[in-house]
Amino acid sequence: MKNATYNHIVVAKDDDQIVGYAYSNISPKEAYSNEFATFFNLSSVSRKNVGCLSQFYIKEGYRQYGIGSILFNMSMKWLKQFDDVEDFFIFVSNGNQNALEFYKRKGFSISHDILDGFITVLRNNKQSENIYS
Ligand SMILES: CC(C)(COP(=O)(O)OP(=O)(O)OC[C@H]1O[C@@H](n2cnc3c(N)ncnc32)[C@H](O)[C@@H]1OP(=O)(O)O)[C@@H](O)C(=O)NCCC(=O)NCCS
Repeated sequence: MKNATYNHIVVAKDDDQIVGYAYSNISPKEAYSNEFATFFNLSSVSRKNVGCLSQFYIKEGYRQYGIGSILFNMSMKWLKQFDDVEDFFIFVSNGNQNALEFYKRKGFSISHDILDGFITVLRNNKQSENIYS
């Protein structure tokens, strides 16, 4: 969060209890190449900054009711308001097929794997069909 230019968190509440959240940020693309990993080919991003849905979680027992879709759409609407940001990323852990399929249905595509297949990189471009605005 400290390295990001802008941060955004939306939460879902059941009375006073937080039952889900989505954290997104806008960051310089260089933030995604470090000693740990190169998350994507920086030269494939023409703009200075990229958007990322970075953390996303709905508490068990609250899933499959559409809450995730609402938080996802709110996050995408926020991410896509920045005129100078065209590329959006989501990083999914190996084996999380449920999340992978969820994001694919929302318009993201698999780009590549990193860290020996441990992480799947999903990508979306503002030029592609936009169902969130
Ligand atoms: C991925 C995750 C955030 C999705 O949240 P969710 O609240 O279950 O998402 P939704 O309910 O909006 O959508 C899930 C499915 O329920 C369906 N659904 C939505 N409302 C529904 C309803 N009223 N009745 C029945 N099904 C419904 C949706 O159509 C969707 O189906 P699909 O996946 O086949 O399209 C949630 O499963 C989760 O927290 N998983 C664990 C953490 C995780 O993997 N996070 C992602 C890390 S990258």
